[in-house]
Formats: sequence, C-alpha cells, structure tokens
Amino acid sequence: MNLKGRHFLKLLDFTPEEILYLVDLADELKDKKKKGIPTLHHTGKNIALIFEKTSTRTRCSFEVAANDLGMHSTFLDPSASQIGKKESIADTARVLGRIYDGIEYRGFDQSIVDDLAKYAGVPVWNGLTNQFHPTQVLADIMTIREKFGYLKGIKMTYMGDARYNMGNSLMVVCAKMGMHFTACTSREYFPAEDIVARCREIAKETGATITLTEDVDAGTKGADVIYTDVWVSMGEPDEIWAQRIKDLSPYQVTKEVMANAGEKAIFMHCLPAFHDLNTTIGKDIAEKFGITEMEVTDEVFESEQSVVFDEAENRMHTIKAVMDATL
Ligand code: CP
Ligand code: NVA
Repeated sequence: MNLKGRHFLKLLDFTPEEILYLVDLADELKDKKKKGIPTLHHTGKNIALIFEKTSTRTRCSFEVAANDLGMHSTFLDPSASQIGKKESIADTARVLGRIYDGIEYRGFDQSIVDDLAKYAGVPVWNGLTNQFHPTQVLADIMTIREKFGYLKGIKMTYMGDARYNMGNSLMVVCAKMGMHFTACTSREYFPAEDIVARCREIAKETGATITLTEDVDAGTKGADVIYTDVWVSMGEPDEIWAQRIKDLSPYQVTKEVMANAGEKAIFMHCLPAFHDLNTTIGKDIAEKFGITEMEVTDEVFESEQSVVFDEAENRMHTIKAVMDATL
C-alpha cells in the first residue's frame, strides 16, 4: 500500500483497503507510542495548520503527531493570516506549498480544502469542513474495532443533525467498511439525497446498508454504536438554537435509547458535547430554554458505555497515521 503524495480530503476518495491500512497503521503507531518506541519518520519536515474554526482535539492531535514524527508545525488562525481576506485560497496554497511539506485545513466549504489541494503541490489534510470530517471518523472506526474486534456488520445509529459533516462522514465510512448505518432523526435532518445515493451504491459492493428513519425505537433497536454530535455546528448562527432544540430533542441520547440498543452497545460522540452546565453555551441555553442537557444526557455521557475519551485519544494516533502515510 502506497499513499505517498495523496491528499486526505474525504473518505469517498479512498478504497476500503486504503482506509483499513490507515487504521492498521494507527494501531501500530499507538502501540509504539505506549511502548516509548520513537517514530521519527519525517525528521526535518514542516507542516502548516490552518484553522478558520476553533479546535481542541484536532489541533492538538496534529501538533503532537507532527512532533512525534519529527516534524515542526506552524499554527495559522484566521486572525493571524491573510487567508481569504487579502489572499485567495489558490495563492495561499501556492505559497504554503513552497514552504511546507503538508497542509491541514479546518474551515467552511469543502470546495476550499479541494482548492488548497488543487494548488498546493503537497498533501492537504481536511481537519473538518461543513460537509466532511474524515480524520474524526478514522478515529471512530479505530475505536469501534478496539471495542468489538471487527468492523464489518457493525450497526451504527447516528442521532441528531445527520446532514452535516459528522452525519455525512459516518455514513460514508459505514458504506465503505460494510457497516450498517442508520440516521435516526427528523426528516429535515436526513443526509442529502445525492450522498445517500452514492453511499447506497458503495454499500452494494461492501454489504453495508443505509437506513433513514424518524422512529427512535426502530432506529436504535439492537445498535452496536449510538453516535451523536452537537445540534448546532461551528459557523451556524445562534438564532437557530430554538428550532434545533425543538426538532432534535426527541433524538437526544438517553438511557432508554442505550437500553434499546444492543447488549454491548457503546456511546460515541466526536466532542465537544453539551451534557451538563459546565460550559458557557450550555449555561446560556439553560437560561434561555430551560434544558440542562442537549444531544446526550450526562448519565449516558458518564456511563460505562461511553467511549468518548478513547475516541478522542485515537484522533492523535489516526492523524499521525494519515500524515505518516501521505508524506
Ligand atoms: N472532534 C473534534 O474535531 O474536536 P475539536 O473541534 O476540538 O478539534
Ligand atoms: N458538527 C460539529 C463537529 C465538531 C467536531 C461542528 O462542525 O461543529
């Protein structure tokens, strides 16, 4: 398997074998990290990290992974660079491509990261766009395989806003890996028809299935993985909170949902999560709408079934694998 020079923009661009190779490599790199075995495979290289939206996990994972591979990284936040304001994406890509060996981008439309990739001349990695979050779902399937020992045949139910980056990316990875994906949410939040159709085509080859349902009982019954994400994503206006709370509250992950899922079911969330009042937004929403938990109850979040911190740790190992494989 040789992924040198490849971009990592979305999992639709990768074969199941390539995806599996990246997860296997992440397992190997994780094992080496735990044993203290150095992995300085890219000493002297430099990477640029462009973040037009905020981040804890993704940024820290890229920085630590770069360091573990022997590389140096430069962090560019929207206020500190010329990107988009004084300099186009194409020009930025051509400049950074002359200076760096690889570029990470987190921001808005997928077309921006696609453009960076078109002009940079070095590997570009998608650290989240409105449409896709591919490094996240790589960590998710790594975590699922650690818990269950296999991927093919796993039943994943995603609850909440399934039209956005996480819903799309999870549906794609399930289709690619022969897993059963269910979007369990209100109809308006089902993933877009074109991507559903594409995933159903892929599913024919891999044995996956794609189900869209508004029925919580049917949609979560016997699931191996219950997954959710915030109801309002970065970059969306504050005004939509009221509507989202109304529309998505029936799809909150509760202990009843977990009890209806499979006996060994796990709870997953890309994080950050609103499960208590220990955040400013959480407090603000509680004052305005009188709710103390949103997409997941604190009880489920803190339960034995919750694997969210394993998932968060695996962000670093999988991002390291992506950079190691493509550089
Ligand atoms: N899950 C995730 O991407 O987290 P950050 O926004 O903190 O990077
Ligand atoms: N859907 C969320 C994912 C955060 C990791 C967002 O885009 O804000």
